[in-house]
Amino acid sequence: MSALPPVGRLQWTDVPAPLRARLETALGAAVTDTVTPPGGFGHQLAAALTLADGRRFFVKASSTDDPLTAANLHEGAVLGSLPPGAPAPELVGIHHAAGWTAVVIAHLDGPHPDLSPDSFDPGQIWGLLDKLTSSPAPAPYAAAVAATASGAAALHGWRELLADPPGDLPPAALHHLRELADLEAAWPALAHGDRIVHGDLRADNMVRDHGRGVTFVDWAHATTGPACIDAVSLAPQLVLAAHDPQDIVRLLDEHPATATDPLAASAFLAALTGHWHRNARLPAPPGAPGLRDYQHRAATAGTALLACRLS
Ligand SMILES: Nc1ncnc2c1ncn2[C@@H]1O[C@H](COP(=O)(O)OP(=O)(O)OP(=O)(O)O)[C@@H](O)[C@H]1O
Ligand SMILES: [Mg+2]
Repeated sequence: MSALPPVGRLQWTDVPAPLRARLETALGAAVTDTVTPPGGFGHQLAAALTLADGRRFFVKASSTDDPLTAANLHEGAVLGSLPPGAPAPELVGIHHAAGWTAVVIAHLDGPHPDLSPDSFDPGQIWGLLDKLTSSPAPAPYAAAVAATASGAAALHGWRELLADPPGDLPPAALHHLRELADLEAAWPALAHGDRIVHGDLRADNMVRDHGRGVTFVDWAHATTGPACIDAVSLAPQLVLAAHDPQDIVRLLDEHPATATDPLAASAFLAALTGHWHRNARLPAPPGAPGLRDYQHRAATAGTALLACRLS
Protein backbone atom coordinates (compact mmCIF):
# COMPACT_ATOMS: atom_id res chain seq x y z
CA MET A 1 0.00 0.00 0.00
CA SER A 2 1.28 3.46 -0.82
CA ALA A 3 1.92 5.46 2.37
CA LEU A 4 0.68 8.94 1.51
CA PRO A 5 -0.01 11.11 4.54
CA PRO A 6 -2.34 14.09 4.03
CA VAL A 7 0.37 16.55 5.12
CA GLY A 8 4.06 16.53 5.93
CA ARG A 9 6.87 14.06 5.46
CA LEU A 10 7.20 10.45 6.50
CA GLN A 11 9.51 9.96 9.47
CA TRP A 12 12.21 7.34 10.08
CA THR A 13 9.83 5.39 12.33
CA ASP A 14 7.29 5.19 9.45
CA VAL A 15 9.83 3.15 7.45
CA PRO A 16 9.19 -0.61 7.85
CA ALA A 17 11.51 -2.21 10.41
CA PRO A 18 13.13 -4.63 7.88
CA LEU A 19 14.34 -1.71 5.73
CA ARG A 20 15.57 0.20 8.79
CA ALA A 21 17.48 -2.93 9.86
CA ARG A 22 18.85 -3.40 6.32
CA LEU A 23 20.15 0.17 6.30
CA GLU A 24 21.77 -0.14 9.72
CA THR A 25 23.53 -3.35 8.61
CA ALA A 26 24.69 -1.79 5.33
CA LEU A 27 25.92 1.39 7.04
CA GLY A 28 27.57 -0.57 9.83
CA ALA A 29 26.03 1.05 12.92
CA ALA A 30 22.69 1.73 14.58
CA VAL A 31 20.77 4.91 13.81
CA THR A 32 20.72 7.06 16.95
CA ASP A 33 19.18 10.27 15.64
CA THR A 34 17.24 11.48 12.61
CA VAL A 35 16.56 15.01 11.44
CA THR A 36 14.09 15.94 8.71
CA PRO A 37 15.30 19.22 7.21
CA PRO A 38 12.66 21.83 6.49
CA GLY A 39 11.96 22.69 2.87
CA GLY A 40 10.59 20.93 -0.19
CA PHE A 41 7.12 19.66 -0.90
CA GLY A 42 7.53 15.90 -1.08
CA HIS A 43 6.00 13.40 1.33
CA GLN A 44 8.61 10.62 1.32
CA LEU A 45 11.24 10.14 4.02
CA ALA A 46 14.05 12.63 3.33
CA ALA A 47 16.14 12.69 6.49
CA ALA A 48 19.67 12.97 7.85
CA LEU A 49 20.56 9.88 9.89
CA THR A 50 23.19 9.99 12.61
CA LEU A 51 24.78 6.65 13.45
CA ALA A 52 26.09 5.41 16.80
CA ASP A 53 29.68 6.11 15.62
CA GLY A 54 28.81 9.71 14.72
CA ARG A 55 28.77 9.33 10.92
CA ARG A 56 25.86 10.91 9.08
CA PHE A 57 24.04 9.95 5.87
CA PHE A 58 21.08 11.39 4.01
CA VAL A 59 18.31 8.92 3.12
CA LYS A 60 15.28 9.19 0.87
CA ALA A 61 12.80 6.32 1.16
CA SER A 62 9.27 5.46 0.15
CA SER A 63 7.06 2.52 -0.54
CA THR A 64 8.16 0.98 -3.85
CA ASP A 65 4.74 1.57 -5.48
CA ASP A 66 4.89 5.27 -4.57
CA PRO A 67 5.72 7.33 -7.70
CA LEU A 68 8.42 9.11 -5.66
CA THR A 69 10.41 5.86 -5.55
CA ALA A 70 11.03 6.06 -9.31
CA ALA A 71 12.16 9.66 -8.78
CA ASN A 72 14.48 8.61 -5.94
CA LEU A 73 15.96 5.81 -8.08
CA HIS A 74 16.47 8.26 -10.93
CA GLU A 75 18.26 10.57 -8.49
CA GLY A 76 20.44 7.65 -7.36
CA ALA A 77 21.40 6.87 -10.99
CA VAL A 78 22.17 10.55 -11.63
CA LEU A 79 24.33 10.91 -8.51
CA GLY A 80 26.22 7.79 -9.56
CA SER A 81 27.00 9.22 -13.01
CA LEU A 82 27.72 12.95 -12.60
CA PRO A 83 31.26 13.96 -13.59
CA PRO A 84 33.91 14.45 -10.87
CA GLY A 85 33.69 17.95 -9.43
CA ALA A 86 29.96 18.33 -10.12
CA PRO A 87 28.24 20.22 -7.28
CA ALA A 88 26.42 17.15 -5.92
CA PRO A 89 26.74 14.71 -3.00
CA GLU A 90 27.91 11.15 -3.74
CA LEU A 91 25.57 8.17 -3.99
CA VAL A 92 26.27 5.76 -1.08
CA GLY A 93 23.85 2.93 -1.88
CA ILE A 94 20.36 1.75 -2.79
CA HIS A 95 18.46 -0.75 -0.62
CA HIS A 96 15.13 -2.58 -0.89
CA ALA A 97 13.17 -4.37 1.85
CA ALA A 98 9.54 -4.96 2.85
CA GLY A 99 8.23 -3.35 -0.36
CA TRP A 100 10.18 -0.14 0.26
CA THR A 101 13.20 1.42 -1.41
CA ALA A 102 15.85 3.66 0.17
CA VAL A 103 18.49 5.74 -1.58
CA VAL A 104 21.43 6.62 0.68
CA ILE A 105 23.39 9.78 -0.17
CA ALA A 106 26.46 11.46 1.35
CA HIS A 107 25.39 13.94 4.02
CA LEU A 108 26.01 17.64 3.47
CA ASP A 109 26.43 19.80 6.53
CA GLY A 110 25.16 23.35 6.43
CA PRO A 111 22.17 25.59 5.79
CA HIS A 112 20.41 26.35 2.53
CA PRO A 113 22.26 29.09 0.66
CA ASP A 114 21.22 32.66 1.25
CA LEU A 115 19.94 33.99 -2.07
CA SER A 116 19.49 37.57 -0.84
CA PRO A 117 21.34 40.47 -2.54
CA ASP A 118 23.84 40.85 0.36
CA SER A 119 25.00 37.24 0.19
CA PHE A 120 27.97 35.77 -1.73
CA ASP A 121 25.99 32.59 -2.42
CA PRO A 122 24.23 33.74 -5.64
CA GLY A 123 27.62 34.58 -7.19
CA GLN A 124 28.89 31.11 -6.34
CA ILE A 125 25.75 29.49 -7.78
CA TRP A 126 26.04 31.42 -11.09
CA GLY A 127 29.66 30.19 -11.26
CA LEU A 128 28.59 26.58 -10.63
CA LEU A 129 25.98 26.84 -13.39
CA ASP A 130 28.56 28.20 -15.82
CA LYS A 131 30.87 25.28 -15.05
CA LEU A 132 28.08 22.69 -15.18
CA THR A 133 26.74 23.80 -18.57
CA SER A 134 29.89 24.90 -20.41
CA SER A 135 30.43 21.50 -22.07
CA PRO A 136 28.20 18.59 -23.09
CA ALA A 137 27.12 16.09 -20.43
CA PRO A 138 29.51 13.12 -20.23
CA ALA A 139 28.30 9.81 -21.67
CA PRO A 140 27.56 8.01 -18.33
CA TYR A 141 25.30 10.87 -17.22
CA ALA A 142 23.58 11.08 -20.62
CA ALA A 143 22.94 7.32 -20.43
CA ALA A 144 21.57 7.56 -16.86
CA VAL A 145 18.96 10.17 -17.84
CA ALA A 146 18.23 8.91 -21.38
CA ALA A 147 14.95 7.24 -20.48
CA THR A 148 13.59 10.21 -18.53
CA ALA A 149 11.55 12.84 -20.35
CA SER A 150 12.37 16.43 -19.45
CA GLY A 151 9.74 17.84 -17.10
CA ALA A 152 10.88 21.32 -18.12
CA ALA A 153 10.01 20.69 -21.78
CA ALA A 154 6.38 20.01 -20.86
CA LEU A 155 5.78 23.12 -18.76
CA HIS A 156 3.01 25.42 -19.95
CA GLY A 157 0.09 27.50 -18.73
CA TRP A 158 -0.39 30.62 -20.85
CA ARG A 159 -2.51 28.96 -23.52
CA GLU A 160 -5.10 28.06 -20.87
CA LEU A 161 -4.77 31.49 -19.23
CA LEU A 162 -5.21 33.18 -22.62
CA ALA A 163 -8.36 31.15 -23.29
CA ASP A 164 -9.90 32.14 -19.95
CA PRO A 165 -7.86 34.91 -18.24
CA PRO A 166 -8.27 34.88 -14.44
CA GLY A 167 -9.33 38.28 -13.09
CA ASP A 168 -6.37 38.39 -10.68
CA LEU A 169 -3.58 38.00 -13.28
CA PRO A 170 -0.99 40.77 -12.78
CA PRO A 171 -1.38 43.65 -15.28
CA ALA A 172 2.04 42.88 -16.81
CA ALA A 173 0.85 39.36 -17.61
CA LEU A 174 -2.49 40.54 -19.01
CA HIS A 175 -0.67 43.11 -21.13
CA HIS A 176 1.63 40.47 -22.71
CA LEU A 177 -0.79 37.53 -22.67
CA ARG A 178 -0.71 36.75 -26.42
CA GLU A 179 3.09 37.18 -26.60
CA LEU A 180 3.55 34.91 -23.57
CA ALA A 181 1.33 32.22 -25.10
CA ASP A 182 3.37 32.45 -28.34
CA LEU A 183 6.70 32.24 -26.47
CA GLU A 184 5.47 29.25 -24.48
CA ALA A 185 4.31 27.56 -27.70
CA ALA A 186 7.86 27.96 -29.08
CA TRP A 187 9.46 26.35 -26.00
CA PRO A 188 9.03 22.57 -26.68
CA ALA A 189 11.00 22.86 -29.94
CA LEU A 190 13.80 24.71 -28.10
CA ALA A 191 13.88 22.43 -25.05
CA HIS A 192 16.46 19.98 -26.40
CA GLY A 193 20.18 20.01 -25.66
CA ASP A 194 23.14 18.02 -24.43
CA ARG A 195 23.94 19.86 -21.18
CA ILE A 196 23.47 18.64 -17.60
CA VAL A 197 20.18 20.01 -16.25
CA HIS A 198 19.40 19.74 -12.53
CA GLY A 199 15.80 20.65 -13.28
CA ASP A 200 14.57 21.88 -9.89
CA LEU A 201 16.96 24.57 -8.72
CA ARG A 202 15.65 26.38 -5.62
CA ALA A 203 17.39 27.34 -2.39
CA ASP A 204 15.83 24.36 -0.63
CA ASN A 205 17.43 22.06 -3.21
CA MET A 206 20.91 23.37 -2.35
CA VAL A 207 23.01 23.09 0.80
CA ARG A 208 25.92 25.41 1.65
CA ASP A 209 28.14 22.63 2.99
CA HIS A 210 30.80 23.81 5.44
CA GLY A 211 33.55 22.07 3.46
CA ARG A 212 32.34 22.03 -0.15
CA GLY A 213 30.47 25.32 -0.42
CA VAL A 214 27.11 25.46 -2.20
CA THR A 215 26.14 22.01 -3.46
CA PHE A 216 23.00 21.05 -5.40
CA VAL A 217 20.77 18.31 -3.92
CA ASP A 218 17.51 16.69 -5.04
CA TRP A 219 18.59 15.59 -8.52
CA ALA A 220 15.30 13.70 -9.01
CA HIS A 221 14.37 15.79 -12.07
CA ALA A 222 17.78 15.79 -13.73
CA THR A 223 17.93 15.42 -17.51
CA THR A 224 19.93 16.71 -20.43
CA GLY A 225 18.73 19.87 -22.14
CA PRO A 226 19.68 23.38 -23.19
CA ALA A 227 22.11 25.26 -20.95
CA CYS A 228 19.51 27.87 -19.99
CA ILE A 229 17.13 25.74 -17.90
CA ASP A 230 18.81 25.93 -14.48
CA ALA A 231 19.93 29.55 -14.88
CA VAL A 232 16.40 30.64 -15.84
CA SER A 233 14.93 28.59 -12.97
CA LEU A 234 17.27 30.34 -10.53
CA ALA A 235 16.23 33.81 -11.70
CA PRO A 236 12.73 33.95 -10.09
CA GLN A 237 14.20 32.44 -6.91
CA LEU A 238 16.52 35.44 -6.69
CA VAL A 239 13.59 37.82 -7.19
CA LEU A 240 11.76 35.99 -4.37
CA ALA A 241 14.89 36.63 -2.25
CA ALA A 242 14.52 40.40 -2.86
CA HIS A 243 16.81 40.99 -5.84
CA ASP A 244 15.71 43.72 -8.24
CA PRO A 245 14.24 41.99 -11.33
CA GLN A 246 16.14 44.43 -13.58
CA ASP A 247 19.46 43.25 -12.07
CA ILE A 248 18.55 39.62 -12.66
CA VAL A 249 17.47 40.26 -16.24
CA ARG A 250 20.86 41.92 -16.85
CA LEU A 251 22.55 38.83 -15.40
CA LEU A 252 20.55 36.57 -17.71
CA ASP A 253 21.60 38.74 -20.65
CA GLU A 254 25.26 38.21 -19.72
CA HIS A 255 25.54 34.71 -18.25
CA PRO A 256 26.95 32.12 -20.70
CA ALA A 257 24.12 29.67 -19.97
CA THR A 258 21.43 32.12 -21.08
CA ALA A 259 23.21 34.65 -23.34
CA THR A 260 23.97 32.16 -26.11
CA ASP A 261 20.28 31.46 -26.84
CA PRO A 262 18.12 34.34 -25.56
CA LEU A 263 15.00 33.06 -27.32
CA ALA A 264 15.23 29.69 -25.54
CA ALA A 265 15.80 31.52 -22.22
CA SER A 266 12.75 33.75 -22.71
CA ALA A 267 10.61 30.87 -23.94
CA PHE A 268 11.51 28.76 -20.90
CA LEU A 269 10.92 31.65 -18.49
CA ALA A 270 7.50 32.11 -20.09
CA ALA A 271 6.66 28.39 -19.90
CA LEU A 272 7.79 28.14 -16.25
CA THR A 273 5.88 31.25 -15.19
CA GLY A 274 2.76 30.15 -17.10
CA HIS A 275 2.96 26.78 -15.33
CA TRP A 276 3.11 28.54 -11.95
CA HIS A 277 0.19 30.86 -12.73
CA ARG A 278 -1.96 27.98 -13.97
CA ASN A 279 -1.08 25.49 -11.22
CA ALA A 280 -1.34 28.03 -8.40
CA ARG A 281 -5.06 28.25 -9.23
CA LEU A 282 -5.70 24.46 -9.08
CA PRO A 283 -6.87 22.63 -5.92
CA ALA A 284 -4.00 21.76 -3.55
CA PRO A 285 -2.66 18.19 -3.98
CA PRO A 286 -2.49 15.94 -0.89
CA GLY A 287 0.81 15.71 0.95
CA ALA A 288 2.24 19.00 -0.35
CA PRO A 289 1.34 21.79 2.09
CA GLY A 290 2.49 25.22 0.95
CA LEU A 291 2.86 24.27 -2.73
CA ARG A 292 0.07 26.51 -4.10
CA ASP A 293 1.19 29.49 -2.02
CA TYR A 294 4.75 29.03 -3.32
CA GLN A 295 3.47 28.82 -6.91
CA HIS A 296 1.56 32.11 -6.48
CA ARG A 297 4.70 33.86 -5.21
CA ALA A 298 6.92 32.29 -7.87
CA ALA A 299 4.44 33.26 -10.60
CA THR A 300 4.62 36.89 -9.43
CA ALA A 301 8.44 36.79 -9.49
CA GLY A 302 8.52 35.19 -12.94
CA THR A 303 6.07 37.79 -14.25
CA ALA A 304 8.28 40.62 -12.95
CA LEU A 305 11.22 39.18 -14.91
CA LEU A 306 9.16 38.64 -18.05
CA ALA A 307 7.85 42.20 -17.84
CA CYS A 308 11.48 43.50 -17.90
CA ARG A 309 12.56 41.08 -20.61
CA LEU A 310 9.62 41.73 -22.93
CA SER A 311 9.28 45.51 -22.52
N1 LIG B 1 22.70 15.06 0.86
C1 LIG B 1 22.09 15.85 1.73
N2 LIG B 1 22.64 16.19 2.90
C2 LIG B 1 22.01 16.98 3.79
N3 LIG B 1 20.79 17.51 3.59
C3 LIG B 1 20.18 17.22 2.43
C4 LIG B 1 20.79 16.39 1.45
N4 LIG B 1 19.94 16.27 0.40
C5 LIG B 1 18.87 17.01 0.71
N5 LIG B 1 18.99 17.57 1.92
C6 LIG B 1 18.01 18.41 2.63
O1 LIG B 1 16.78 17.71 2.70
C7 LIG B 1 15.73 18.42 2.08
C8 LIG B 1 14.84 17.45 1.33
O2 LIG B 1 15.63 16.73 0.41
P1 LIG B 1 15.20 16.63 -1.12
O3 LIG B 1 14.97 18.00 -1.64
O4 LIG B 1 16.21 15.81 -1.81
O5 LIG B 1 13.85 15.84 -0.96
P2 LIG B 1 12.56 15.80 -1.87
O6 LIG B 1 11.50 15.14 -1.11
O7 LIG B 1 12.93 15.23 -3.19
O8 LIG B 1 12.26 17.31 -2.06
P3 LIG B 1 11.09 18.01 -2.80
O9 LIG B 1 10.05 18.06 -1.80
O10 LIG B 1 11.75 19.30 -3.15
O11 LIG B 1 10.74 17.16 -4.00
C9 LIG B 1 16.42 19.44 1.19
O12 LIG B 1 15.63 20.59 1.10
C10 LIG B 1 17.71 19.71 1.93
O13 LIG B 1 17.50 20.67 2.95
MG1 LIG C 1 13.77 19.14 -2.70
